[in-house]
Formats: sequence, structure tokens, C-alpha cells
Amino acid sequence: MSDKEILIEVTDLKKSYQVTKTNSLEVLKGLSMKIYKEDIVSIVGKSGAGKSTLLHILGTLDKPDSGKVVFEGQDVFLLKEKQISEFRNKKIGFIFQFHHLLPEFTAIENVMIASMISGEPDRARAEELLIEVGLKDRMEHKPSELSGGEAQRVAIARALVNSPKLILADEPTGNLDTENANSVTDLIFGLRDKYKQTFIIVTHNEEFAKNCDSIITMKDGVVDV
Ligand SMILES: Nc1ncnc2c1ncn2[C@@H]1O[C@H](COP(=O)(O)OP(=O)(O)O)[C@@H](O)[C@H]1O
Ligand SMILES: [Mg+2]
Repeated sequence: MSDKEILIEVTDLKKSYQVTKTNSLEVLKGLSMKIYKEDIVSIVGKSGAGKSTLLHILGTLDKPDSGKVVFEGQDVFLLKEKQISEFRNKKIGFIFQFHHLLPEFTAIENVMIASMISGEPDRARAEELLIEVGLKDRMEHKPSELSGGEAQRVAIARALVNSPKLILADEPTGNLDTENANSVTDLIFGLRDKYKQTFIIVTHNEEFAKNCDSIITMKDGVVDV
């Protein structure tokens, strides 16, 4: 038993994709799990297991067919569309395998844009985070002038700029060499310790998964126990 507080409780989540007119693919088949506050949780499972689908639903980028996602006591899919967007902007940060930075903008601008969407552009906070991720000397660089590892660090700073409770990362080190992957991993653990955020990270990196507070293995549309 754990005395940690629950951040998210997922109950009996189901999701199918309509593949053709008559055929649908059931990806989540009644998945349930609990995520505890301030944990770093890894999600592992074979390609096609539904990891990204689950992450998208947790991030309210997609909706389940049925089942519940309760975040700090709030059943999120009972909220209205506008409230769901607000919830997402305030509470959730996303890190993807490819950094998806805007190529025309500098590192600092890319980080600030995320804060503009939910209110005021916060340059001081963006600077603080870029320093935090080790990019003090790269703030005015554009994505094309950054290495892959550096660009991913900018994407991490961007995900954190609104101080979200939860950070969802889909194979954040999947596109990096070992050295850069390790430094991104160290960075994530350091940020969690400092900012007390919760991370859910899809990964193929077994070493990383082993070091997390818990590992969720997805198999046949549910959590493999
Ligand atoms: N929008 C979609 N339409 C149809 N099928 C999809 C869609 N998104 C994902 N799938 C299928 O659902 C399954 C799970 O995909 P995904 O969640 O991306 O798995 P993972 O991230 O574990 O590799 C795969 O078979 C994939 O091809
Ligand atoms: Mg995936």
C-alpha cells in the first residue's frame, strides 16, 4: 500500500479506432490505473500497444469511448469543451519525441509562446527555465541552430512554463543518442525533485524505466500485472 496522494485515477478506459466502415480496432479494452503525485511513471509496451493513445487521452487531446479519468477528484471528460481546454493549458505539459519547436522563433520565444496561450507571456519565467535546462547561452538561437539534445531541452522548458501539475512525455529520448538521452533523463528527475511535478513517460529505454517510481506495462489493451 502507498500513503502517497493520488493525482489521477483511470477507470475502465476503452478506446477503439474506426479503421474501415465495418472494422474497428479496439486499442484500450478497459484499462484502469492510479498515478500518484510527484511520481515519475514510465509506460512501456510493444509498438502498437496503445501507449500514445493512452497519453493523448490523459492529456485530453483525445476522448475515450467510455471509462473515466479523474484528475484531483475531477472527472475531466464531464467538463465542457472550453473547461477541458483550460484544464489542459493550466495543468498539463507535453513533451514529444520530436521537439516540434516553431522554426521561425528563438528558443526563448518558443518557451514564451506556451505562456502566451494561457495568459501573459512570461519572459522571466522562460529565461529561468532555459537556464534550468542548461541553455543560458542558447536563448536567442533558432531551432536549426540547436543540437537535437538542446532542442529537446527547449521543448522541456516549454512544457514547464505554465507550471503544470502533470507532464506527459511520449518517447522524449527516442530520437536522441545515449549521451543526450541520459542528460534529458537526469534533467527530468532533477526537475521533479525541484518543482514537485508528476511525470508520465512513454519509453523504450529499459534503464530509464527501471529508475522510475513505477512502471506501467501495457498489453492487450490493459495494464499488465
Ligand atoms: N487515429 C488512428 N486511427 C486508426 N488507428 C489508429 C489511430 N491511432 C492509432 N491507431 C492504431 O492504434 C494502435 C495503437 O496505437 P498507439 O497508441 O500509437 O500505440 P503505441 O504508442 O503503443 O505504439 C496501433 O495499432 C495504431 O496503428
Ligand atoms: Mg506511440
